[in-house]
Amino acid sequence: MERTFLMLKPDAVQRGLSGEIISRFEKKGFKLAALKLLQVGRNLAEEHYKEHKGKVFFEPTVRYIMSSPVIAMVWEGKNVISLAREMMGATNPANAGPGSIRGSYAMDISRNIIHGSDSVESAEREISLYFHPEEVLTYKKAGEEWLSE
Ligand code: GTP
Ligand code: MG
Repeated sequence: MERTFLMLKPDAVQRGLSGEIISRFEKKGFKLAALKLLQVGRNLAEEHYKEHKGKVFFEPTVRYIMSSPVIAMVWEGKNVISLAREMMGATNPANAGPGSIRGSYAMDISRNIIHGSDSVESAEREISLYFHPEEVLTYKKAGEEWLSE
Protein backbone atom coordinates (compact mmCIF):
# COMPACT_ATOMS: atom_id res chain seq x y z
CA MET A 1 0.00 0.00 0.00
CA GLU A 2 1.26 3.47 -0.92
CA ARG A 3 2.38 5.97 1.73
CA THR A 4 2.83 9.72 1.65
CA PHE A 5 4.28 12.37 3.93
CA LEU A 6 1.96 15.26 4.75
CA MET A 7 2.80 18.22 6.95
CA LEU A 8 0.45 20.80 8.43
CA LYS A 9 2.56 23.93 8.23
CA PRO A 10 2.81 26.52 11.05
CA ASP A 11 -0.11 28.59 9.75
CA ALA A 12 -2.45 25.57 9.75
CA VAL A 13 -1.58 24.81 13.39
CA GLN A 14 -1.72 28.46 14.50
CA ARG A 15 -5.03 29.07 12.75
CA GLY A 16 -6.67 26.04 14.38
CA LEU A 17 -7.18 24.19 11.09
CA SER A 18 -5.40 20.96 12.06
CA GLY A 19 -8.45 18.93 13.05
CA GLU A 20 -10.42 20.08 10.03
CA ILE A 21 -7.65 19.11 7.60
CA ILE A 22 -6.84 15.77 9.29
CA SER A 23 -10.55 15.00 9.19
CA ARG A 24 -10.61 15.35 5.40
CA PHE A 25 -7.97 12.63 5.00
CA GLU A 26 -9.74 10.39 7.53
CA LYS A 27 -13.08 10.78 5.77
CA LYS A 28 -11.51 10.07 2.39
CA GLY A 29 -10.60 6.65 3.79
CA PHE A 30 -6.84 6.98 4.16
CA LYS A 31 -5.14 5.40 7.16
CA LEU A 32 -2.95 7.39 9.53
CA ALA A 33 0.40 5.59 9.97
CA ALA A 34 2.36 8.21 11.95
CA LEU A 35 1.84 11.66 13.46
CA LYS A 36 3.89 14.09 15.54
CA LEU A 37 3.89 17.75 16.56
CA LEU A 38 7.37 19.23 16.26
CA GLN A 39 9.20 22.47 15.66
CA VAL A 40 11.45 22.12 12.63
CA GLY A 41 15.07 23.27 13.05
CA ARG A 42 17.26 24.89 10.39
CA ASN A 43 19.04 21.68 9.26
CA LEU A 44 15.81 19.73 8.78
CA ALA A 45 14.08 22.68 7.07
CA GLU A 46 16.94 23.11 4.58
CA GLU A 47 17.07 19.36 3.94
CA HIS A 48 13.30 19.24 3.40
CA TYR A 49 13.41 22.02 0.78
CA LYS A 50 16.86 21.24 -0.70
CA GLU A 51 15.45 20.86 -4.25
CA HIS A 52 14.62 24.59 -4.05
CA LYS A 53 18.05 25.74 -2.84
CA GLY A 54 19.16 28.78 -4.86
CA LYS A 55 15.62 29.92 -5.68
CA VAL A 56 14.41 33.29 -4.39
CA PHE A 57 11.75 31.69 -2.19
CA PHE A 58 14.12 29.15 -0.55
CA GLU A 59 15.07 31.22 2.52
CA PRO A 60 11.54 32.59 3.21
CA THR A 61 10.11 29.08 2.85
CA VAL A 62 12.71 27.61 5.23
CA ARG A 63 11.97 30.36 7.77
CA TYR A 64 8.24 29.84 7.37
CA ILE A 65 8.33 26.13 8.27
CA MET A 66 10.71 26.82 11.20
CA SER A 67 8.56 29.63 12.58
CA SER A 68 6.19 27.64 14.83
CA PRO A 69 5.20 23.97 15.42
CA VAL A 70 4.08 21.77 12.55
CA ILE A 71 2.25 18.43 12.45
CA ALA A 72 4.15 15.78 10.49
CA MET A 73 2.14 12.78 9.31
CA VAL A 74 2.34 9.62 7.26
CA TRP A 75 -0.87 8.57 5.52
CA GLU A 76 -1.49 5.30 3.73
CA GLY A 77 -3.90 4.23 1.00
CA LYS A 78 -4.46 3.46 -2.65
CA ASN A 79 -2.84 6.23 -4.78
CA VAL A 80 -2.53 8.36 -1.64
CA ILE A 81 0.39 10.42 -3.05
CA SER A 82 -1.46 11.87 -6.03
CA LEU A 83 -4.89 11.91 -4.38
CA ALA A 84 -3.58 13.86 -1.38
CA ARG A 85 -1.98 16.41 -3.78
CA GLU A 86 -5.36 16.78 -5.51
CA MET A 87 -7.09 17.26 -2.17
CA MET A 88 -4.49 19.92 -1.26
CA GLY A 89 -4.96 21.91 -4.49
CA ALA A 90 -2.43 24.04 -6.40
CA THR A 91 0.75 25.28 -4.65
CA ASN A 92 -0.57 28.83 -4.95
CA PRO A 93 -3.87 28.93 -3.02
CA ALA A 94 -4.98 31.72 -5.36
CA ASN A 95 -5.14 29.08 -8.11
CA ALA A 96 -6.38 26.19 -5.98
CA GLY A 97 -9.86 24.83 -6.63
CA PRO A 98 -12.46 26.14 -4.16
CA GLY A 99 -13.14 22.70 -2.66
CA SER A 100 -9.48 21.87 -2.13
CA ILE A 101 -7.69 22.36 1.19
CA ARG A 102 -5.61 25.31 0.00
CA GLY A 103 -8.58 26.66 -1.97
CA SER A 104 -10.78 26.49 1.12
CA TYR A 105 -8.44 27.82 3.78
CA ALA A 106 -5.63 29.90 2.25
CA MET A 107 -5.07 32.80 -0.14
CA ASP A 108 -1.33 33.37 -0.59
CA ILE A 109 1.54 31.14 -1.78
CA SER A 110 3.75 32.14 1.15
CA ARG A 111 1.21 30.66 3.61
CA ASN A 112 -0.19 27.60 1.87
CA ILE A 113 -0.90 25.56 5.06
CA ILE A 114 0.06 22.06 3.94
CA HIS A 115 2.89 20.10 2.35
CA GLY A 116 2.50 16.78 0.53
CA SER A 117 5.06 14.51 -1.15
CA ASP A 118 4.99 14.65 -4.96
CA SER A 119 6.33 11.16 -5.83
CA VAL A 120 7.11 7.75 -4.34
CA GLU A 121 10.79 8.75 -4.07
CA SER A 122 10.09 12.04 -2.29
CA ALA A 123 7.57 10.31 0.02
CA GLU A 124 10.22 7.80 1.09
CA ARG A 125 12.82 10.53 1.54
CA GLU A 126 10.52 12.82 3.51
CA ILE A 127 9.10 10.04 5.74
CA SER A 128 12.65 9.07 6.70
CA LEU A 129 13.56 12.72 7.41
CA TYR A 130 10.76 13.09 9.96
CA PHE A 131 10.23 9.58 11.37
CA HIS A 132 12.23 6.62 12.62
CA PRO A 133 11.06 3.41 10.89
CA GLU A 134 9.47 2.09 14.12
CA GLU A 135 7.31 5.23 14.40
CA VAL A 136 5.48 4.40 11.17
CA LEU A 137 2.85 1.87 12.18
CA THR A 138 1.19 -0.98 10.34
CA TYR A 139 -2.21 -2.03 11.70
CA LYS A 140 -5.63 -3.20 10.63
CA LYS A 141 -8.30 -0.53 10.55
CA ALA A 142 -12.03 -1.19 10.93
CA GLY A 143 -14.04 -0.85 7.74
CA GLU A 144 -11.23 -1.38 5.22
CA GLU A 145 -13.47 -3.83 3.36
CA TRP A 146 -15.81 -0.91 2.55
CA LEU A 147 -13.12 1.15 0.82
CA SER A 148 -12.08 -1.12 -2.04
CA GLU A 149 -12.52 -4.64 -3.31
P1 GTP B 1 4.93 21.54 -0.96
O1 GTP B 1 3.91 20.47 -0.80
O2 GTP B 1 5.02 22.48 0.23
O3 GTP B 1 6.30 21.00 -1.39
O4 GTP B 1 4.39 22.45 -2.12
P2 GTP B 1 4.38 22.14 -3.66
O5 GTP B 1 5.01 20.82 -3.99
O6 GTP B 1 2.97 22.37 -4.10
O7 GTP B 1 5.29 23.31 -4.19
P3 GTP B 1 6.88 23.34 -4.41
O8 GTP B 1 7.51 22.09 -3.95
O9 GTP B 1 7.11 23.83 -5.78
O10 GTP B 1 7.28 24.54 -3.41
C1 GTP B 1 7.57 24.24 -2.06
C2 GTP B 1 7.03 25.36 -1.17
O11 GTP B 1 7.79 26.54 -1.40
C3 GTP B 1 5.59 25.78 -1.45
O12 GTP B 1 4.64 24.98 -0.79
C4 GTP B 1 5.59 27.18 -0.89
O13 GTP B 1 5.49 27.14 0.54
C5 GTP B 1 6.96 27.68 -1.27
N1 GTP B 1 6.95 28.37 -2.54
C6 GTP B 1 6.99 27.85 -3.80
N2 GTP B 1 6.99 28.80 -4.73
C7 GTP B 1 6.93 29.98 -4.04
C8 GTP B 1 6.91 31.33 -4.44
O14 GTP B 1 6.92 31.67 -5.62
N3 GTP B 1 6.86 32.26 -3.42
C9 GTP B 1 6.83 31.92 -2.10
N4 GTP B 1 6.80 32.85 -1.15
N5 GTP B 1 6.87 30.65 -1.69
C10 GTP B 1 6.91 29.69 -2.66
MG1 MG C 1 6.89 20.20 -3.26
